[in-house]
Amino acid sequence: MLILKDVKLVKELLDVFINFSELSLMQKDDFNLNNDNELNHSREKVSTITRPRINITAEILNPNVYINALENEYKDYAFSEERVLQWKGQWREKVFKVDDNIPIDLELGTGNGHHFAHHANTNPNRCLIGFELKYKPLIQSIRRARNAGAKNARIARYHVHNLDLLFNSNEINNIYIHFPDPWLRPRKFKNRIVCETFLNRMYNLQKSNSFIEFKTDSREYFLWALTEIKKTKYKIETQTLDLHSVEELKAKNFVTTFERIFLKQNIPINYVRLIKE
Ligand SMILES: C[S@@+](CC[C@H](N)C(=O)[O-])C[C@H]1O[C@@H](n2cnc3c(N)ncnc32)[C@H](O)[C@@H]1O
Repeated sequence: MLILKDVKLVKELLDVFINFSELSLMQKDDFNLNNDNELNHSREKVSTITRPRINITAEILNPNVYINALENEYKDYAFSEERVLQWKGQWREKVFKVDDNIPIDLELGTGNGHHFAHHANTNPNRCLIGFELKYKPLIQSIRRARNAGAKNARIARYHVHNLDLLFNSNEINNIYIHFPDPWLRPRKFKNRIVCETFLNRMYNLQKSNSFIEFKTDSREYFLWALTEIKKTKYKIETQTLDLHSVEELKAKNFVTTFERIFLKQNIPINYVRLIKE
């Protein structure tokens, strides 16, 4: 009996320790929102995902070259997690200075920004906002897009689970999610980007007739995501377990950096396109 109790205690302690390490890894408790409403909102606990916190760029004591670029050279095109909060509902008017009818697309987790730059440059009549947690790929992405001539691209250091704090309902158009971390351990499922709670939030932010494009190398995550998608109002327009075996999709597909790595290993790419009707 005593042993059983001890085992339970050790397990509890272990859980506390693991949660604590996760918190520090995610640099959770620093999200210094000024507005009370937003603060409460940021602490809201939801069924599948918890509001994550990230550290504050302005509080970093020894900023590296990428942080300096974010706060100086690229400050008008790249926003920190604090500066980006000011644009809610005003992206077209204040940031891009375009008419209300110009579409704004999002790319979540831009990585080193090859798709980000490509999309911005091949769609000059649309605007694009990228989101990335890490400073280096964030700057690589915006630099790549601007060096190629794009005037319609912006990027923010921001956790995508909190995107609904940055946009009003019906403010955005298409969303690209390419090779997000699959978070394969059940305890980590809450970190997965494509899940029911996240999709419901995006549904509210997107205009009608917009899509979400989701690609992943992880079959396990993909099948799990499909069950989550079925709980939402999105309609599945196209779906395949092997994007590169479908000529029509392959012809239109842009191969991202991570996709190239998986293709070299002969890993099939799972692909789905969701429509908000
Ligand atoms: C596996 S990489 C894929 C990069 C790129 N989309 C590609 O296909 O080559 C995932 C990227 O998403 C970023 N990321 C992961 N979680 C994120 C989050 N919650 N919010 C914003 N970016 C995130 C990572 O820093 C990383 O650069």
